[in-house]
Amino acid sequence: MYPVWEVPGLTAGGVLALIATFHILPSHLSVSAMWLNLYLENKAYREERPDLLEFVRKYSRMLLIFAYVFGSITGVGIWFSASAAAPRALSGLIHNYVWGWATEWCFFLIEVAGIFTYYYTFDKVDRKTHLRIGWIFALGSWTTMVVIVGILTFMLTPGRWLVTGGFFDGFFNQTYWPQLFLRTTGMFAIAASYAVAVASRFKDDRTRADVVRIASVWGLAGLVLGTACFFWYRASLPEAARATFDVLLTPGLKKGMCVPIGLMAAYFAFLRRRPLAVGFTPALAAIAVLFVSIFSFERARELIRKPYLMPQFMYSNQIIGGELPAKGVASETAAMNEKGLLRFAPFVPDGLREVTDANRLEAGRMVALIECSACHTLSPKGLRPLPQRVAALGFTDAESMAAFIDGLGSYPFMPPFVGTETEKKALAAYLVSISK
Ligand code: HEC
Repeated sequence: MYPVWEVPGLTAGGVLALIATFHILPSHLSVSAMWLNLYLENKAYREERPDLLEFVRKYSRMLLIFAYVFGSITGVGIWFSASAAAPRALSGLIHNYVWGWATEWCFFLIEVAGIFTYYYTFDKVDRKTHLRIGWIFALGSWTTMVVIVGILTFMLTPGRWLVTGGFFDGFFNQTYWPQLFLRTTGMFAIAASYAVAVASRFKDDRTRADVVRIASVWGLAGLVLGTACFFWYRASLPEAARATFDVLLTPGLKKGMCVPIGLMAAYFAFLRRRPLAVGFTPALAAIAVLFVSIFSFERARELIRKPYLMPQFMYSNQIIGGELPAKGVASETAAMNEKGLLRFAPFVPDGLREVTDANRLEAGRMVALIECSACHTLSPKGLRPLPQRVAALGFTDAESMAAFIDGLGSYPFMPPFVGTETEKKALAAYLVSISK
């Protein structure tokens, strides 16, 4: 365990979530754009339409610059922020899926080499070869998703891995196929919205209208099939995750998921009829709308992982609360309850390892930082602020607060309290002190 990364107002996980959401736009674009490109390039050759080819070239350039600059930077950003926010969980993932990531990395190399080769060989190789390069890129980049989805879904539904510890037992789990299809279909809405933005800068009305019409059909199909896959995904969730999903899905989040999808569907339907009606700025605004919806879906996906980072054994605060015999992992809660969390955690200032009358509040804050700050801010504003949550429950004395802390584990989405009686009282005293 590393020192806690406290991010006022946001939590460390919040930083990771923002970077990860931003990563989805370029990453899903890179996976989907080439399919649209291949369709249009084929059409351009078949109908001898150099203007369409010009669009394909411009769209590829946007893909190359946007997806491979921002996609790569945010991809690295995910690793950086995850390793600071949850080093223990990341280490657990790497120890299980290092060959998964190595495989993904090989396909990512094909992808990067592929997009440069594709873009710079326009008119330099014959048509058939150029299309083949496009196919290699499209399949290579989609394969990165095929691999990553296995690891992503494993984090929620590890399946038989919990018993066997086997790579593929965790990889092909119950939510794997629905989520792969959800991303594989939904990604075309992203490709389409970028295509509309690129096309909106074309002076020639015929090219612009043709591309926008085609893109709007792809976008609509992506939204409709993606929505169907979402319900398939939801049905594939384990009972507990579905219950958490229903409890924690706030009206705001629900709106964040539904409204943008509705707006985007209306947008594509409108474009199908009036392909020239939307200029560059509204097209960018549509991409922002899509961003809101992705952010909401990813937040919902994160919510239902609670209270775990590593399914069934590592809590969101990185305390190991379950046994995993297949991997030789033993729960550490008994030792922490006996010796004390503050003794156990490696990065605690020396003066705080023992709770005394003089340092009670400070030690209580340390306990809150280690155990609660993965999901709650300690400041009055921000993500699920503890001062506000405690005040809302009306606890004004440390005794009743401590009794509440005893029952934390009965919430399906919060880990139980871990630590000694003295540490619990210190936490309670601290929580009451900040909620006044
Ligand atoms: C895994 C994430 C997670 C951790 C860790 C966590 N909580 Fe929570 N907590 C939640 C969620 C989610 C909610 C419910 C949603 C909300 O209040 O916005 C919640 C709600 C609460 C509430 C309001 C309960 C109610 O019924 O209104 C309190 C009080 C609270 N948490 C205290 C704590 C304390 C104290 C700790 C640390 C010992 C802690 N939580 C650790 C996720 C967590």
